Amino acid sequence: MNIRPRRNRKSEAVRALVQETHLSVNDFIFPLFLLEGSQKKVEVASMPGIYRLSLDNMLLEIEACLALGIKAFDVFPVVDEKHKDKTATRSYDENFFYLKALKEIKQRFPEACIMTDVAMDPYSSDGHDGLVQNGKILNDETLEILGKMALVQAATGIDILGPSDMMDGRVGYLREVLDDHGYTEVSIMSYTAKYASAFYGPFRDALDSAPKFGDKKTYQMNPANQREALIEADLDVEEGADFLMVKPALAYLDVIKLLKDHYDLPIAAYNVSGEYAMIKAAAQKGWLDGDRAMLESLLSMKRAGADIILSYFAKEFALLNK
Ligand code: PBG
Repeated sequence: MNIRPRRNRKSEAVRALVQETHLSVNDFIFPLFLLEGSQKKVEVASMPGIYRLSLDNMLLEIEACLALGIKAFDVFPVVDEKHKDKTATRSYDENFFYLKALKEIKQRFPEACIMTDVAMDPYSSDGHDGLVQNGKILNDETLEILGKMALVQAATGIDILGPSDMMDGRVGYLREVLDDHGYTEVSIMSYTAKYASAFYGPFRDALDSAPKFGDKKTYQMNPANQREALIEADLDVEEGADFLMVKPALAYLDVIKLLKDHYDLPIAAYNVSGEYAMIKAAAQKGWLDGDRAMLESLLSMKRAGADIILSYFAKEFALLNK
């Protein structure tokens, strides 16, 4: 036996030398849930350790995360049922608390990278990502609303827009609208391959944004498909995306790898709410070592090719690596 691979595993020091993949606080975008009002901090029942925060508390949270090295945040609004309607009017109402809060966050922490979501679902009384007519989700008719939403979000000073509805022509349309209004520096992270997944459950609890009827299968991708992600990615590249995202992450590591091998743009993986909830629930029961399961799954996303990880574990990772 002249070849013994175990020699490269013989000590912590040697293992560290040959480690191929590394996680860093620089890899993460931390998703946050914003509540209207002040002095609010409400834990999401299905996401232990994750809170819906009012702006005052969110500013404190961002400050704490920045001190730990987390520099990027994806802010989602929790919209009260009374503010929802068929056309998602609040999504482009400049006086709405979400837009005012984004402005304040950017003013307070100009060095932080703030990302927002461009889709109708948190503001829609139908709970769908697009306009609904006779039970159908409309593609082209939704664009105008998304354009208005993107412009008011861009006006707050945010850095990255995330068109997340998985419908057609989003990236190109938004790029044009942004550029026409002088927002050439606002980036687009396309939800390129977003699957119709069971793993979004806890997120929809956090935002009360579950669809009121049906499912999202006519716009989000079929979990059985891989090659279709190439069609989506080709379009996003052509339409001017700055980042390509795969979502969820854990059950779609092959798709992360596929996009990494085919494209030169940075690849993001969204380690979604259900993936977080699974590890937390098992750890709470004492069935798994939560920290190790977290690190192993985050590492797998990087190993598969993710340059960026959107994860509810971001802060915990940073605390563990302090
Ligand atoms: C909304 C959106 C969703 C998530 C991010 N943006 C939910 C959905 O598509 O139903 C899910 C995030 C998560 O589960 O952590 N378009």
